[in-house]
Amino acid sequence: MAQFLSSSIGKKFLMSLSGLFLLVFMLVHLTVNSMILFDSSGELFNRAAHFMASNPIIRIVEPVLAIGFILHILYAVILTIHSLYTRPVGYKKQKLGHSSTWSSRNMFILGLAILTFLVIHIANFFWKIKFTGHDLLADVTIHGVHMENSYALVTTFFIDWWWIVGVYVIGSIALGLHLYHSIWSAFQTLGWSNGIWRRRLNLVGLLASLVIAGGFALIPLWVKISTLL
Ligand code: HEM
Repeated sequence: MAQFLSSSIGKKFLMSLSGLFLLVFMLVHLTVNSMILFDSSGELFNRAAHFMASNPIIRIVEPVLAIGFILHILYAVILTIHSLYTRPVGYKKQKLGHSSTWSSRNMFILGLAILTFLVIHIANFFWKIKFTGHDLLADVTIHGVHMENSYALVTTFFIDWWWIVGVYVIGSIALGLHLYHSIWSAFQTLGWSNGIWRRRLNLVGLLASLVIAGGFALIPLWVKISTLL
C-alpha cells in the first residue's frame, strides 16, 4: 500500500480522490452561496451559512476539507516537478494541440490561479467570520436565532469593489477550465473510463464545470449589477 501511494500512479490516485472530494464541496458551497441570488433580504443566505457554521457534521468535515486541499496541492507540485525531470528531450517541440486541450496542458498554472483566488477569498470572508470579526457581521436575529450577518459582509465587498468582482470572475473561469479537464481525468485514473465512458464523462465534466464556473461568477456580478439598475 505504502509503495503504491509513493508511486506516480498512487500520487495521481490520491490527487483524483481529493479532487473529487473538493468537487463535492464546491457543489455544496455553490448551492449555499446561490441563496444570495434568490433572496435580496439576505435571510436565506444567512440561515444557510449559519446552518453550515453550526452543524456538527460540517464542523468535522471542515478539517478534512483543509487536508483535501493540502493533499491536492502537494501532489500537484510533486507530480509537476517529477514530469519536468522525466520529460523526453524535444518535448517542447512536439505539437500537442491535436491530442490535448489548452486546459489539460496548463493544469498547474490554472491551479496556481485558483490558489491565488482562494487566498484572497479566505482572507476576505472565512478569516473575518471565523477569527477577526468585522463591523458588517454585527448579529442579526432571524426567527429568534442570533447569527452573523454574512450576507452583509459578502454583498458589501462585491458592491464596494469592482476589482473583487473581477477577481471572482477570473477565479471562476480558472476553476471551470481546471475542472473541465480534471473530472474525466480523475475518473480515468480511478479506473472508470473506456471509449463510451470517456465521452460521457467528458460531457459530465463540461456541464459540471459550466455550472460551477458560471454559478460562482454570476453571484458577484449579480450583486454588483443589481445595485446599478
Ligand atoms: C460567489 C462566490 C463565492 C462566495 C460568495 C463565497 C462565500 C464564502 C463564505 C461567506 C465563506 C465563509 C463561510 C463561513 O466560514 O461561515 C467561504 C468559505 C470558503 N470558500 Fe467560498 N465563496 C465563493 C466561491 C468559492 C470558490 C470558487 C471556492 C473554491 C475554489 C471557495 C472555497 C471556499 C473555502 C475552501 C472556504 C473555507 C471553508 C468553509 O468555510 O466552508 N469559495 N466562502
